[in-house]
Amino acid sequence: MGILSTKTIAQVSMLAACSIANAGTLPQAKGLDAFVEKQRTISLQGVLNNIGPDGSLVPGAGAGVIVASPSTVNPNYFYTWSRDAALTMKMIVDEFMLGKKQLKSYIEDYIHAQAVLQTVTNPSGTFLPSGLGLGEPKYNVDLTRFNGAWGRPQRDGPALRAIALITYSKWLISNGQKQKAKTVVWPIISNDLSYVGQYWNSTGFDLWEEVQGSSFFATQNQFRSLVEGGALAKTLGVQCTGCDQAPQVACFLNEAYWNGQYFVANINSNDGRTGKDANTVLGSISAFDLNAKCDDASIQPCNSRALSNFKAFVDPFRDSTAYPINKGIPKSQGIALGRYTEDVYYNGGLWYLITAAAAEYLYDAVAQWEIQGSLTIDKTSLAFFQDIYPAAKAKTYTPKGKNAEFPLILKAVTNYAESFVTVLQKYIPADGSMTEQFNRTSPFNPTSAANLTWSYAAFISMAERRAKQYPPSWISGKQSTTLPKTCSTGATKGVYAPATAAGAPNITTSCTSNVRFEVNATTYYGENILVAGNTTDLGSWDINNAWPLDASGYTAERPLWSATVALTAGQAINYAYVRTEDCSQAPIWESATANRTLVIPPCDPNADPDAVILVTNDAWTGPTGTSGGC
Ligand code: NOJ
Ligand code: NOJ
Repeated sequence: MGILSTKTIAQVSMLAACSIANAGTLPQAKGLDAFVEKQRTISLQGVLNNIGPDGSLVPGAGAGVIVASPSTVNPNYFYTWSRDAALTMKMIVDEFMLGKKQLKSYIEDYIHAQAVLQTVTNPSGTFLPSGLGLGEPKYNVDLTRFNGAWGRPQRDGPALRAIALITYSKWLISNGQKQKAKTVVWPIISNDLSYVGQYWNSTGFDLWEEVQGSSFFATQNQFRSLVEGGALAKTLGVQCTGCDQAPQVACFLNEAYWNGQYFVANINSNDGRTGKDANTVLGSISAFDLNAKCDDASIQPCNSRALSNFKAFVDPFRDSTAYPINKGIPKSQGIALGRYTEDVYYNGGLWYLITAAAAEYLYDAVAQWEIQGSLTIDKTSLAFFQDIYPAAKAKTYTPKGKNAEFPLILKAVTNYAESFVTVLQKYIPADGSMTEQFNRTSPFNPTSAANLTWSYAAFISMAERRAKQYPPSWISGKQSTTLPKTCSTGATKGVYAPATAAGAPNITTSCTSNVRFEVNATTYYGENILVAGNTTDLGSWDINNAWPLDASGYTAERPLWSATVALTAGQAINYAYVRTEDCSQAPIWESATANRTLVIPPCDPNADPDAVILVTNDAWTGPTGTSGGC
């Protein structure tokens, strides 16, 4: 299991020394090295500013809570997303292992926060008995549940969290703290792997929170988590429930998404898109293992299909009518990249984290060919190479012999990576702040969420690879797995228990009862009805956290709005309905006279978890709305 080498750290400080030495002659050093070095420092601070309890931009966030962005309006990202947080924590663990010892407390706080979070009942479900709540994509920054309507569940979160925590566990083991890895961290990982083993074959929302189906990014990370988790379990002498699914997940990853030219990002869905999506490039960089073979089932950056996919994803962004920002850039050069070309979110802008990921991907691939001492181009990957090295042929290149082209091809790929970094240099504002996106049209301004944690984290992991700093290997044998002859679906029933040694509350069963809120409320098109209440479950009277009701049962005879909510059993609550309208900002509350109360019945651990225990039979009181159509 490779440990980050100190030699590479020395190389970085030499770089630092050079740029300091140059500072006299080049007052505004424009070199890429100087840019990356400076931006890397700014980015790490940018990440730490967004982590509670002390992050300067996120007052109110709990300890170890990694907030997506301090932005509270347009868009409101003042939440913690499992995905963003886990990817950020993976970077933090890698930086810690590279020598930034001051990051340790962030890791310890995260472990504690996640142990608690795993037990929080939320709209995706409860933690016990079946782990459903682990699929929840986001939470409030005080670690309470977020009730609003959202694309849920998202099944990449548990896998990504497991990967971050497994990496840290390996560090603990090689630093004489195996017992801690086993008793404190493993129980959290075990819950997440149980979830992966149980639900990898169930559909969910993709990483962009838009498409319900199967997502390449999720499957690829799920695969890694099961393989790496299985190896860790062996080292710790514990059982991994769910890890037995790994070969089937690999089979699905390799067989289901490939269309002959690229990996279709979302399948088992009907999204009407080409499927060329950053999803797949982000997937391969999460699965990166310096020592892996290019044909490994995990689909590494140097994999021929992944290279073909890279080109297929990037090329549509070269359309200068749609993307004036990329006008006039030859195909041998990097460009600004977004999520997918059909994207309309913030006008489908370009994403810093994706442009950084493209560079990281290419550095990864080069490192793999370097360590293997050979590079095989086949007909699948040929077009990728010809864009940047026109003389490329489908054959195996090695460094041996005179006139060897091997170093030239590697140089071409490295230059290609560098050119994506140059794009970042151009569009990251001078103060180094990173939003989520920048506009495709002139003046190409930053847009969407300010100070996006994930943008900063992605810059740092890219900068690590650029500096030849690599995370530990996760594939312990020659291959991550042997692909089964035929793919089949499967699920291993998970085993879930609160990670109490890490600070989770010792819940024995999630004692909730399903209450069905039913209210007759006549509404105009454009209005919505929500239920709010004095408990966390119902958003503590915060309209942003109130529970949206569903109008699918609304008829001319009965204007029914309803929702089934799992509420903490045994408590007496106050609640009220609230009306929101697309024509006005202010919500309309029911009149105080409604004074609604409810006692939530005791929970029954033997009942069907979906059974409704209580149904309200309410009628809206108070003001009705004005006609919509604004
Ligand atoms: C918010 C999501 O996070 C983003 O990915 C999505 O594009 C928009 N909602 C629109 O659905
Ligand atoms: C929108 C992105 O699409 C999604 O991937 C991310 O988790 C959230 N924003 C929060 O950053």
